[in-house]
Formats: sequence, C-alpha cells, structure tokens
Amino acid sequence: MTDGIAVPRDQPASPVPSDSALVIRVRGLVTRFGSQTVHDHLDLDVHRGEVLGVVGGSGSGKSVLLRTIIGLNHAAAGTIEVLGQDTATLSAAQTTALQTRWGVLFQDGALFSAMTVSENVEVPLREHSGLPASLIEEIARVKIGMVGLPGSAATKLPSELSGGMRKRAGLARALAMDPEILFLDEPTAGLDPIGAAGFDQLIQDLQSSLGLTVFMVTHDLDSLAAICDRIAVLTDKRVTVGTLEELRRLDHPWIRAYFHGVRAQERTWAGGSGAGGLAADDLAAAAQPA
Ligand SMILES: Nc1ncnc2c1ncn2[C@@H]1O[C@H](COP(=O)(O)OP(=O)(O)O)[C@@H](O)[C@H]1O
Ligand SMILES: [Mg+2]
Repeated sequence: MTDGIAVPRDQPASPVPSDSALVIRVRGLVTRFGSQTVHDHLDLDVHRGEVLGVVGGSGSGKSVLLRTIIGLNHAAAGTIEVLGQDTATLSAAQTTALQTRWGVLFQDGALFSAMTVSENVEVPLREHSGLPASLIEEIARVKIGMVGLPGSAATKLPSELSGGMRKRAGLARALAMDPEILFLDEPTAGLDPIGAAGFDQLIQDLQSSLGLTVFMVTHDLDSLAAICDRIAVLTDKRVTVGTLEELRRLDHPWIRAYFHGVRAQERTWAGGSGAGGLAADDLAAAAQPA
C-alpha cells in the first residue's frame, strides 16, 4: 500500500484489493503552475466500485487532481493509470477511447446554455457512439429519466431549470456513454440540504445499480458520511486515504479541524445530535488550509 501518507498500518483497514481491482492508480504525481507546486509526489489508488470522497482546503488542489487524472491538466512528473492504461503513453485514438469510459460532472454543471437538456445529453453520443439520431434521442430520454428528471425537462434550456435540476442534467450527460468511472467536482455545492441529500442518494443508487466507481470532490460532510466508502484528504500537496473512522483517529491539524470541528460535531456519526448546520457550503469555515 502506497496510498496516502498516514493511515495507521496497525488498524484494520478497508479490504486491500489486487491491482486488477484498481481503477485509478496515481504514483509520484507532481503538478505545477509556474513556481507553485500543487501536488508533490502524490500517490492515490481508487478501487473498482468504490465511492471515493476527495476533500481538502480551498485551493489545496482537488480540482487540479481531478483534471490531471482525466488529462485536462499536464502532470510535471509521475504516472497516472486509468482502467489499467498509462495515460501518458496513449495515442490520440486510444485517449479518446479511454475518455468514453468515464463521465465528468464539473463544478458548474458546464451545460451548453443554448442547447436543451436532451441536446446536451446527446452531445457525447453524437461525438462517440456512431449510433443513428433516433436511437441517440432515445438513449438521452432514458438517461434523463435515470437521474430523476421529469420527461418535460428534456426540451428545456438549462436556464429554465433549478440548480439541482441542472446538476442532474449534467449528470445525465456524464452518464450518456455508460461510463465505468464517474468524476464529480463539488456536485452538491449550491444545493439546499434537501437537494444535496437527494443528489447523494441518486449517486449512491446509480453507483450500486450501474457498478460505477465514483471519484467525488466535495466539501459536504454529509455526503462523505452518507455515501463515501473511503475519503482522500488533500493536505501538504499529498493525499491521506482512509475511512471516516480511520481519518478521525489521525493527529493532523487540518484533518482534526475538519473531522472534529464544530460542523462535524453536529453530525450523528461524530456522536452529535444531527441537528442544524446541514448546508452544503457548511465547510467553508473549516476548509481553510492549515
Ligand atoms: N489553470 C491554472 N493556472 C494557474 N493556477 C491554477 C490553475 N488551476 C488551478 N490553479 C491553482 O492551483 C491550486 C489548486 O487549485 P484547485 O485544484 O482548483 O483547488 P481546489 O482544491 O479548491 O479545487 C490553486 O492555488 C489554484 O490557484
Ligand atoms: Mg475545486
């Protein structure tokens, strides 16, 4: 295990899968912008079928990590294997083929504003599937239903939807090509607590029914507790990975502040009442880098 830096080895850890069960394998990753180093020899494993939550202070490099894994950001050093393939060694055609095996929901939903929901969902299918238009429209209809949107949403523009419905539409587009991996960047940010809980439930349902592996950047402690099998904490330019229970035992200033802070205390998993403070942007206070 080279995952993270500080999960105590004497604790019963989550089952360690064989390498073939690794969907994402990052080793020695270094990312930089000019003189700023964002990740410094970061290692991370993501197991098949797990929901991995990725947390860390604002600006700690969560989104850059996601973007680097999916090839939108250049790594200065290190290796990134996704679904058994070293992403740096692939031809353009192989990269495109690999890209169809994951779906991404970016922070802002990133829907095309001049297209209807259905047209948005059809984009990856038109680009990659080679299927006839009538079948593509039918698949889009299925995906829109799958994320819990009413059929009437299909012909609406993103601006005509609520924030939560836009997130669901973005999710339908991310699922268009039946991906094996779903990358989510702050999917519940900006949603009210009920909307956020509903979205978490949807992710969990989709994960179990479709067997997805989910890589989810989040600030939402409730999401972490409700649906994440393991959590990767980005601090000091690397990640520490463990279950919620494992991480709560670690003696690191940021990790302690995050998992034992006032916001965490209110959670039932931390022995709190579960009352109050359930807003998705809840962690803003604790989410500052140590
Ligand atoms: N395209 C970019 N150019 C220069 N700096 C960037 C770029 N993208 C991100 N950064 C910097 O990298 C750091 C990590 O950013 P990011 O991954 O977006 O943080 P977060 O953990 O909040 O998602 C920040 O300091 C940010 O300013
Ligand atoms: Mg971010």
